[in-house]
Amino acid sequence: MTNAKIYDVKPDIAHNAHINQETYQTLYQRSIDEPGAFWAEQAALFLTWQKPWQTVMDCDYSQGHIRWFEGGKLNVSENCLDRHLADRGDQVAIIWESDNPAHDKKITYRELHQQVCKFANVLKSQGVKKGDCVCIYLPMIAEAAVVMLACTRIGAVHSIVFGGFSAEALKDRILDSNCQYVVCADVGHRGGKTIAIKANVDQAAMACPDLKSVIVIKNGTENVVWHNGRDIWYHEAMQGASDQCPAEAMDAEDPLFILYTSGSTGKPKGILHTTGGYLLYAAMTHKYVFDYHDGDIYWCTADIGWITGHSYMIYGPLCNGATTVMFEGVPTYPEADRFWRIIDKHQVNIFYTAPTAIRALMAQGHEFVTRTERSSLRILGSVGEPINPEAWEWYYHVVGDARCPVVDTWWQTETGGILITPLPGATPLKPGSATLPFFGITPEILDSQGNVLQGEADGVLVLSCSWPGQARSLYGDHQRFIDTYFKSYPGYYFTGDGVRRDEEGYYWITGRVDDVINVSGHRMGTAEIESALVLHQHVAEAAVVGYPHDIKGQGIYAFVSLNVGVQASEELRRELINLVRQEIGAIASLDIIQWTPALPKTRSGKIMRRILRKVASNELDGLGDTSTLADPTVVDAIILHRANQ
Ligand code: WT7
Repeated sequence: MTNAKIYDVKPDIAHNAHINQETYQTLYQRSIDEPGAFWAEQAALFLTWQKPWQTVMDCDYSQGHIRWFEGGKLNVSENCLDRHLADRGDQVAIIWESDNPAHDKKITYRELHQQVCKFANVLKSQGVKKGDCVCIYLPMIAEAAVVMLACTRIGAVHSIVFGGFSAEALKDRILDSNCQYVVCADVGHRGGKTIAIKANVDQAAMACPDLKSVIVIKNGTENVVWHNGRDIWYHEAMQGASDQCPAEAMDAEDPLFILYTSGSTGKPKGILHTTGGYLLYAAMTHKYVFDYHDGDIYWCTADIGWITGHSYMIYGPLCNGATTVMFEGVPTYPEADRFWRIIDKHQVNIFYTAPTAIRALMAQGHEFVTRTERSSLRILGSVGEPINPEAWEWYYHVVGDARCPVVDTWWQTETGGILITPLPGATPLKPGSATLPFFGITPEILDSQGNVLQGEADGVLVLSCSWPGQARSLYGDHQRFIDTYFKSYPGYYFTGDGVRRDEEGYYWITGRVDDVINVSGHRMGTAEIESALVLHQHVAEAAVVGYPHDIKGQGIYAFVSLNVGVQASEELRRELINLVRQEIGAIASLDIIQWTPALPKTRSGKIMRRILRKVASNELDGLGDTSTLADPTVVDAIILHRANQ
């Protein structure tokens, strides 16, 4: 990568930035040399504590034991709302932009505070107590922020399930986290279409006997099926609720939320984040990575159903007293200029989106961009998957008119916040590289034997030190937490990503090294998709792999072998596609199904995915050693079919 293009730090950006090249070096060094003192300073700077902590950190990776600021008391909603009221009560906290371009709504910190207190009282009146888990299944409406913050106010743990997940996926998540309460909407609106939400809850609820109440936000005009005694209208409950609600004193290590994400095996994992460390890390990274200044209008396009929506649409920005934009719709409705129009309409300064959206918009041509102004933009951000240099350059030159640094932020649901990233005033940029570690972050590259590689290197990405935003456990399964993240390379947190470090110490994420695929920035376990496929009575076996896809980053490629006597057909193909969507959701749409009489296996019966990945990616020259296969002719048959598609 010696010839990688470099974009130097812009003097005007560096001049006004919180962090410049020099302060980055000094502060980074200090964060590594004296982590205890460094993080204590930051915690005092960024958060308001009701009571100081006793110990800054207490970590033992061999036990998956991670604790930050234990003994310290604070409340997330108090940090995101109450403490801003004196200085910025009338400042807009949330700009909500509807799917319909004619509608938007602005909510001030004072109004948000009032609604949060009211809804916290509604939750209490339903019997929700500190430590109880509340499932949130909502579209991108402003009330979603109210509900999240209301949970934190009373110490309830939220578990947000992405509105695009199916009833089946919702049910699994409600059951796994023992949620007795669900907050949902009647319907959602996206791209001019109405999406049933409550109907999915009703279906999921049939298999959730412990569900006590379903609070429904009215978002449409249609009538919905009503279950008396269980269902409650949000607007009715809010009417009578008091707007006074004391913020519960939470320990820094009390659970804040659970968020499900896919792993390489089995069912989704309930990633558990706690209160103090998470909030500190979200707020601090939000300020420095996006060089956020008072008065900036900040927009992260992520859905609240993903970690990016948690950390960088809600908690980080609100903790810093920012104005955060929340968009209900999609980038291409009513036209492919919607993002840029919203930027002009609300004078957005900082814009954070995903490579898949950039590629999709790039494919529509420059015209949709160039007919808008975008002069308010200062910083551009990218997240979710490696951004290919071509998309990076388009984002930088066409969207940002070569004025705005692009921060390519690498992180994960498990990390709570951004770990590897440029800082706008400090880091020369290389398109396609997430560049350098944030304060306190110590990436290492290991070879497959677990040896630490120095200098220029290619291997798996691990982290040797903890940071406050790190996940603390998998809900209900701490052993799986240890096994997944701390067993393969003792002493390190294993990320599951491959990485290369260049001669200047820049990190280039190369993608997952496990059986997780990244489809349009959505993380999916191939095992989950396979489990859905084999539910079909005609399917004998299935193996799913990712393959390069121009817009989605990775597409889903399924190799399916059918039971003896069953004929492959177009109808069966459609049934399988629907089955997977029904089990997981529309984000799990199979792109290619290849029928195969058998799957390539080792003599011990293990499916050789390496080979399937190569076939799916059409890299037929590099199949590697196939001599350990039980029946090498299976591979020839699979290749033949691929060629015939
Ligand atoms: C996986 C985590 C982080 C919030 C959104 C996704 C990939 C994420 C980047 C990036 C290269 C990236 C990794 C990671 N990823 N951001 N900037 N460059 N890869 O969170 O669903 O937990 O997925 O997304 O493979 O492990 P997630």
